[in-house]
Amino acid sequence: TLANLGLYGLGTMGSALALNILDNGFALHVANRSKDATDAFATEATEASLADKLTTHGSLADMARNMPAPRAIILMIPAGKPVETAIEDLCDLLEPGDTIIDAGNTDFHDTRRRTAYVEGRGLTFIGMGVSGGEEGARNGPSIMVGGTPDAWSGIRPVIEAIAAKFEDAPCADHLGPDGAGHFVKTVHNGIEYADMQMITELYGMMRYGQGMEPAAIGARFESWDTGALKSYLVEITGKVLQATDSKTGKPAVDVILDKAGQKGTGRWTLIEALRLGQSASSIEAAVAARSWSSEKETRVAGEEILAGTRNAVELGEADYADALLAARIIAYAQGFRLLSAASDEYEWSLDFARIAEIWRAGCIIRSSLLDDISAAFRGDMPHGQLVFAPAFADRLSKTVPALRRVVAAAALGGHPIPALASALSFIDTFAMARGLTDLIQGQRDFFGMHGFERLDDGSTGQHGPWWE
Ligand code: 6PG
Repeated sequence: TLANLGLYGLGTMGSALALNILDNGFALHVANRSKDATDAFATEATEASLADKLTTHGSLADMARNMPAPRAIILMIPAGKPVETAIEDLCDLLEPGDTIIDAGNTDFHDTRRRTAYVEGRGLTFIGMGVSGGEEGARNGPSIMVGGTPDAWSGIRPVIEAIAAKFEDAPCADHLGPDGAGHFVKTVHNGIEYADMQMITELYGMMRYGQGMEPAAIGARFESWDTGALKSYLVEITGKVLQATDSKTGKPAVDVILDKAGQKGTGRWTLIEALRLGQSASSIEAAVAARSWSSEKETRVAGEEILAGTRNAVELGEADYADALLAARIIAYAQGFRLLSAASDEYEWSLDFARIAEIWRAGCIIRSSLLDDISAAFRGDMPHGQLVFAPAFADRLSKTVPALRRVVAAAALGGHPIPALASALSFIDTFAMARGLTDLIQGQRDFFGMHGFERLDDGSTGQHGPWWE
């Protein structure tokens, strides 16, 4: 039987998701920390003619007490303490057979811990990643579910109904146990960070290296959105760059302070990559770029002290477009490598083709490339590396030369391109059988007698002539 649904947290995302649930014909109980938001939501639902199956409650406890069992309560509240407290409270209020669903951007380590805790109290726990911003939540987000198969079957009809559809199939699935859904959402956000940063680096070169106006650059992005780069982020970049500030008449982008916020998912992606002995260098570059951006005053001083200049670059439109395609493929590849490492570590048995499929609509990184990525994971993929799949190796061979020209021009022109440069170094590294860490191993042996493996006979624990 389908559980009775409750939703706690009527902020932007929670309200949008609640309307979506009602719109799909499901009965819904709602509550919020402050009663005002609940009242405002009730009015909104009434105005949208969606209130007939809505029941409002004054608090989380009231909702939990007054809902008939079995209950499934979705938490749409800020990650961290608020989620922790709500789970504590619900564990005292709910009964075996009931489910708690955390639908926020939660660190998957917390989800793993909470799954054990909540299930230890006889209840069911689901960690659910939801992507697509407010628009997605209202009209169909991409949904990444972590929990037991039983927990999934209890909510599946609702989740599939409210999710985005790609060719009529829901962009939602059960991806694995405990933290799997939240981790896949975290890596989605990491890729989102990298893609946004790479787009932004190319904007910077066109703007400050080629003197193009934001609107003209925006028009380029708009035209790219019809081809191989078709994606939500390219589409909205075109719109942002072509928008005008109504107060000043300037390009909208020119009145925005150049300090980027971040709520944590990009950083968590990296922390986990490093914990697993991996690197997702383009995501790391994107997180670093946001952190550096927050030091506005240092940069203002630095422009003078370091005599910063941005010189002209000469590149054609196709160079930028191809560079973005190559770098985007690499960012996705790094994201999937990390998913693969985590799947091994936490025994999640993630289905990478399926993940690519549920990212094809509803979420922020939706792009035409994801269709090819899911096909690649279902097809021949040497060594499990996306960049080795024939379709991608071929695309990279056609587009990496442009990425190389862009990175070279940026370096010579003094344009910071941390994400593009790291993407290029990644592909150049994996295109060489003989790397450079022979020297690193030699250095380690020299100063610490750490030993190395000989290339000729495979013997380990060897030392160099500096110890003879
Ligand atoms: C999504 C977004 C969403 C949110 C991020 C933004 O998939 O819908 O990723 O989850 O906008 O939290 O993250 P930052 O605030 O860290 O940029």
